[in-house]
Formats: sequence, structure tokens, C-alpha cells
Amino acid sequence: MCGIVAYVGPRDAQPILLDALGRLEYRGYDSAGLAILNGKGVEVRKKSGRIEELAKACRAKPVEGKSGISHTRWATHGAPTDTNAHPHLDASGKLALVHNGVIENYLELKQHLTKAGHKFSSDTDTEILAHLVGESFEHSKEKGEKCLIDAVRKALQKVQGTLGIAVLHADLPGLVVGARRGSPLVIGVGNGENFLASDTQALAPYTDRVVILQDQEIVALYADHFDVASPLGQKAVHVEKIENGVASSDKGSHPHFMLKEIFEQPETVRNAFRGRLDLEESSTKLGGLNLSLDQLREYERIFVIGCGTALHAGMVGKYLIETLAKIPVDTQHASEFRYSDSPVHPKTLFFAVSQSGETADTLGALREAKRRGFRCLGICNNVSSTIARESDGGVYMHAGPEIGVAATKSFTSQVVIFTLLAILLGRLHSLSAADSRRLIEALQQLPDHLHALLKRSDEVRKIAAKFASARSMLFLGRLANFPIALEGALKMKEVTYVHAEGYPAAELKHGVIALVDKDTPTVLVATHDGVYDKNLSNLQEVKARGGPILAVAHEGDQKIGGLADAVFSVPKTHELIQPILNVIPLQLFSYHTAVALNRDVDKPRNLAKSVTVE
Ligand code: AGP
Ligand code: GLU
Repeated sequence: MCGIVAYVGPRDAQPILLDALGRLEYRGYDSAGLAILNGKGVEVRKKSGRIEELAKACRAKPVEGKSGISHTRWATHGAPTDTNAHPHLDASGKLALVHNGVIENYLELKQHLTKAGHKFSSDTDTEILAHLVGESFEHSKEKGEKCLIDAVRKALQKVQGTLGIAVLHADLPGLVVGARRGSPLVIGVGNGENFLASDTQALAPYTDRVVILQDQEIVALYADHFDVASPLGQKAVHVEKIENGVASSDKGSHPHFMLKEIFEQPETVRNAFRGRLDLEESSTKLGGLNLSLDQLREYERIFVIGCGTALHAGMVGKYLIETLAKIPVDTQHASEFRYSDSPVHPKTLFFAVSQSGETADTLGALREAKRRGFRCLGICNNVSSTIARESDGGVYMHAGPEIGVAATKSFTSQVVIFTLLAILLGRLHSLSAADSRRLIEALQQLPDHLHALLKRSDEVRKIAAKFASARSMLFLGRLANFPIALEGALKMKEVTYVHAEGYPAAELKHGVIALVDKDTPTVLVATHDGVYDKNLSNLQEVKARGGPILAVAHEGDQKIGGLADAVFSVPKTHELIQPILNVIPLQLFSYHTAVALNRDVDKPRNLAKSVTVE
């Protein structure tokens, strides 16, 4: 599910493939490899670990040739070893294949192929697919280019699961065949050369013209042209121009993408509301919803689906919409929704939230909601993504590429978008112009507040240094700050590997409090709001049991200052906007703790940026 890059053209493929794979590094992977046609056959290099390991192997023994396929792997079947890394070869050793995704019926297929005499050298599901395509090709009469395309089509008919693949064959130099079902794949259109990649980011320096392959399509890629076929036959394609964002995928003066992206938030938050405030009507404008105000008013319920951080943003959204518009909102892990039979009210509007727009669980849930006849809107950052294209409308984040595996700026953009939505829905129901106005003003002040807050990064660093040896941490918050606690805990786990749990503060006494001891800090989000006093009681409960307390509190809060072991001070804003400020010290806290522990902040172990398998 990680990365694919392929090249066909007049240049040496190896440096292009290595460079383009490097541009996909941010997606997270555990091994990398390439296969190039060297004039005599297929030559493969593959290594577990970093792309640098593969580059070293290629420098030691360069592979020369003008067409090649390459891959970064995020292991699903078989350990991340050199042998399991892609590309995989077929039984003839002439056909090489790379694959993103999962072959769900691989065991069955493997048994069948084994009986027919096939031998496998890896534990992957992918190798089965390479053998299937190879077998089908070997059975064809002419063994020409068309036969390879047919062989891919036939093999895909036998496999279940998700995939993006690229295939080449030693007897067919100058041709790469790509196919997609579930996992993303784009064609990069060059001059006298063409590319295939799982992410436009990989192609940034080479071309800004792309064709986004649709599900079930197969492409035959040559240096000077390409043919796309859907299951219905040959297809005319639409070449799009993309914004490559090369500049923004640079770390600038920051040591890590995660820190850079945390610091971009004054700007990204502004981009999320720019042009969307309607000061005259004290409301907001979200044209991409593709719904008139009358149509919008008809919905009686909202259902938000997403995964990880995106779901946490949806949970803040639930609180905002229920408070401002009095419309009941359900939130559910996308993966759970997809397979559950829970009844959904017929007048429900769905929102699928996803930074990448490619998360398989969220995409599956979106398709399920649409299948059940619901209108489903997307909140995405990646404009050319599958979720953005398959939803019935939506709102883009305009946050620029998010490279750090731990989502930061996309979270605050998503919460801003939910605020805009809650205001819009509120104004269609009973939210007064005056109350709406106060929220809009708070939104407009957000970039300045964020600027001021980010200046406190060094204070957070010092606190992080003090608590970095903790084995475990608890994150607590109530109401809209409960998802902030969940998000704080998720960030901590992802980048530091320190065990962390997020809970509604009052749940503490129902079991979690058993974890409290002097080595387990509790991070309590306790800015001044309707549940401030309740939070203070929870703080006392932890303190009474000798647990260190770190509190997110308003600047100058002396009560908290007197009780907590450390305070993350935040500026005061409208109570409903406050969660956006409260999450910032938690992002910084996990970042600085990870640095103190010498962790690989931008590429934490076992994680992938965009999870395109179920
Ligand atoms: C966030 O830090 C995580 N890496 C992860 O939970 C992520 O939010 C989730 O996989 C959803 O991704 P998406 O927004 O691209 O759909
Ligand atoms: N399922 C394949 C494997 O484990 C592909 C994983 C990927 O998408 O990187 O090798």
C-alpha cells in the first residue's frame, strides 16, 4: 500500500526511479526495490530498510536500462525482509511485478499454483500475482504486447482484494503495464517519456501533467504514448495539470516535516476559512457541498466517517454541529461503519473526512453509504484523490501537502471546516446572527492566536524533556476537548512509542485511575469553560494519588498553575474555537518528546501516511 513508480523513456531509469521513490518516503515503508530491463533480461535490486539502502546497492552495482518499475513496501503479508521486498518475479524469471495493496484470496491461489508446480521464494501475497500474470502470459500464443495486457486482465479476474500494480517483461522492452483496483495510480505524461506512480508527489520534478487512473482500468505505458482501457474497452483520457507543490514539500528551516507542519497552522487554518465567511449574513459559504440552502435544511441527521485523526476532527465537529445547529450527529470509525448493520435515519447527510483522500477504510465506508442511497460529502486535502472524486461534493482543506506521518495541520483544518459547517447549519436553524458573528470573529483571530501560541514551543520542549522517561501517559478532556485528548494520545503513541490513552475526564474514576502512579503523567485539557470545575476535581483526584499533572490551561490561570506540575498555556478564545488552540501544545509535546527520545519523527516505525489497505 505504499509506493509505486515506473518509467519508460529515453533516459536511464535507475536514477529517476530512486529519486521518485525518495519523494514517496513520507508515506512510510519498510523496504524498497526496483526492476529494470537491461537489454538481456530483468535485473532486480531490493533491500529492507531505507531507500538509502537500496540506493547503496544500486551504486555498488548500477542497473542500466531505459524502462523500470520500483516500489516502497509496507508489509502486510510476510516480514519486511530483502526477499519479501518487491519487485517479485514470475516462474520464468522474465516478468517482474510491484504491487500496493492486498490479495485476499492469495492462499487459495497459492495452493492452486503450487499444485501446478510453481515454487515461491517469498511469503508475500504479491508473488502469487506475479506468477498468475506470468502463467497467463506464457499460455498466450504470440507473447506480444497485447498478450501481456491480456495476461494482467485475466490474472486480475482471479484475485480478490485491493491493488495498484506495475508489470514489465524482459521480452517486451519499452512497455510497462499498470492496473488499479482500490489503490491509487496515476500516469505522469512527459515529452517522449512516461511515468506511472501511486502519488503525484513522486512525479513533481518530471511532469505536472497527469492522468488519474480510475478503478478497474489498465494502462499500457510506452515512451511516446499510453493506452488506457476500462472493463468496457479502450478509453479516451483526460490529462490534468496538477500543482506539484515542490516548494512546500521541502522542510525549509525546520528539522522535521512534523514541526514544519505544526508551524504552518496559522496559514493553513486561514486557508481553510478564506473566502468562506459571509459577513453580511453572519454565516458561511460552502459552495462545494453542491446543495442549496433549502436542500441542506431538509437533513435531520449527520453521520461522520473517518479514521484516526480525521475521526477525531469529526468528533469535535459533532460537538460543534449539535451545539450550534441542534442536529444530531453520529461519528463512527469508517472501518466499523462499512460492515455494521446499524440503521441510519433516512434523512442523513454523510461526511467522509480524509486528509489523503485515499484511506481504504474511509473509501469503503463512503461507497457503502452511497450504496445505501445516502448523499456523501468529502472533507479532503488531496484534491485529486479517490474520495474527493467519488463523493457527491465537499470541502477542500487547502492545507498543502502533509508529509509528516503524524497528521497535525490537517486536523486543525478539518476542525475549522466543521466550524464553518456548524455555523452554516446553525444559521439555517436557530443560531442567532450575534452568536454566529462572535464565532466568525474568533475564527478570524485564530491565525494570530496560533502565532502567539507557537512562540511557546520552547516552553513545551522543556516540559517534554522532563517527562520523556514516562512509560505511559493519560490524556483527559471533556466535551469538545475529549477528542482533543484522544488526538493528544494518538500523536504521543505514533511518534514516541510511549503508551498513551485518551479518555473523557470523568471516566478516570471508572477504571483508568488504576494506572495513575508517579511515573504516569496525566495531561488534562482544562481551559476555562462550562466544565472547568469538574476538571479541577479530576485534577485533584490524580494529584491525591501521586500522579504528575500536566494541564492545558488559559494563560494566567493561577488555580491550575498552583496545582499542576507543568502548564501548557494557551490564549483564550471563544469556547467552541478553543479546541483548535488546545491541540497545539499536545502536538508540540509529542513532537518534542519524540525528539528527546531520538525517534524517527517523520517516519515512525510501522506506520504509513496513507493506509490504502483495509
Ligand atoms: C494520524 O496522525 C495518523 N497517521 C492516522 O490516524 C490518519 O489520521 C488516518 O490514517 C487517516 O488518514 P486520512 O486522513 O488520510 O484518511
Ligand atoms: N501485500 C503486499 C506485501 O505485503 C504489498 C504491500 C504494500 O502495499 O506495500 O508485500
